[in-house]
Amino acid sequence: MQTFSNPVLSRTQAEAALDRAVAQVRRNLPLYAGCCQNHSSVNGVYPPCGNDQWTNGFWPGEIWLAYERTGDPDFREAGLATVPSFHRRIVEKIVVDHHDMGFLYSPSCVAAWKLTGDKTAREAALLAADQLLTRFHPVGDFFQAWGAMAEPGNHRFIIDCLLNLPLLYWASRETGDRKYRDLARRHIATCLRYSFRPDGSTYHTFFLHPDGTPDRGETCQGYRADSFWARGQAWGIYGSVLSYRYEPRPEYLDTFRKALDFYLSRLPEDLVPYWDMIFQDGSDEPRDSSTAAIAACGLLEAAASLPADEGAACRRLAGQMLFSLAKDYVPSQVTPGGGQLLHGTYSKQSPYNTCVPEGVDECTSWGDYFYMEALTRYLTQWNPYW
Ligand code: GLY
Repeated sequence: MQTFSNPVLSRTQAEAALDRAVAQVRRNLPLYAGCCQNHSSVNGVYPPCGNDQWTNGFWPGEIWLAYERTGDPDFREAGLATVPSFHRRIVEKIVVDHHDMGFLYSPSCVAAWKLTGDKTAREAALLAADQLLTRFHPVGDFFQAWGAMAEPGNHRFIIDCLLNLPLLYWASRETGDRKYRDLARRHIATCLRYSFRPDGSTYHTFFLHPDGTPDRGETCQGYRADSFWARGQAWGIYGSVLSYRYEPRPEYLDTFRKALDFYLSRLPEDLVPYWDMIFQDGSDEPRDSSTAAIAACGLLEAAASLPADEGAACRRLAGQMLFSLAKDYVPSQVTPGGGQLLHGTYSKQSPYNTCVPEGVDECTSWGDYFYMEALTRYLTQWNPYW
């Protein structure tokens, strides 16, 4: 594993960084009571929005992490107050015709259930797991990411989906029904076969033919089909090692190691990647700080399950990434509607990709959440919401 000489976040610095993040959550509580936070900030401030985006689980996730840090009943109450909206969303099927059930329901309702035993939260998360099952293609063995299931143009999965699968492992454990876990395992096998290139880099999206044979790798949010969308690489790193937590198959760990090696080989000096890793030191393209936070979570997950030496190296790397984030990517002040991490990139258009430009060089709701998760993991033996 490649090593770096960057400073490592100390325990005292991590405590201060997490307390600062909790202060931002506390400041934002009244602003998003009864609504959700937009996927990304606009000029540094999150507009309120309805519960109809794939990202709406992250703000409740921040509230639950703040509750875990402080034990403050205000956070418990605020977290539980978000549950009915998620329950309604899945019961009434409001914009759930996609695969992002884990992103939505793990940091919101699974967290609420694990931390408080709230039964509505459990029911909502199980319904979300059932909804995700409806996206599975038994020919080809994958969960379709977006769009109508019958449309050939939508016959694809994306690497991000690895973070949706822990919801299925959780549902199998909760219900004793293997069907959730079995389909998760089949999707992971397909993803490992096609999303990861031989050098450990990743395709954002991968199309299959209707008969289940591979068609082609593409990108939506990366620069080009054959480039290295940074966040996709981080989803691959974190997703593969999370899969290993639920099923310790050696190929999951091999994938984690290869994806990590590639990621480390293309980092700029401060360990916070540009939005696509085709860009390196000296580029004036924007960064994606959320990628560094996600990668740090993956490294800290690995630190718990790898042999001692390798685990310690992973933890050190996470501490170096977190040092950089805490020092240079956190806003100077807690402000109303402000985020935790500056310089995230949601979707940047390029001449070769198909995304709608949004949230470029802004805070992102998942960047904020994973930054808090990484700090929590760094300081405690955390029981994941994933
Ligand atoms: N899962 C979508 C994204 O990372 O932007």
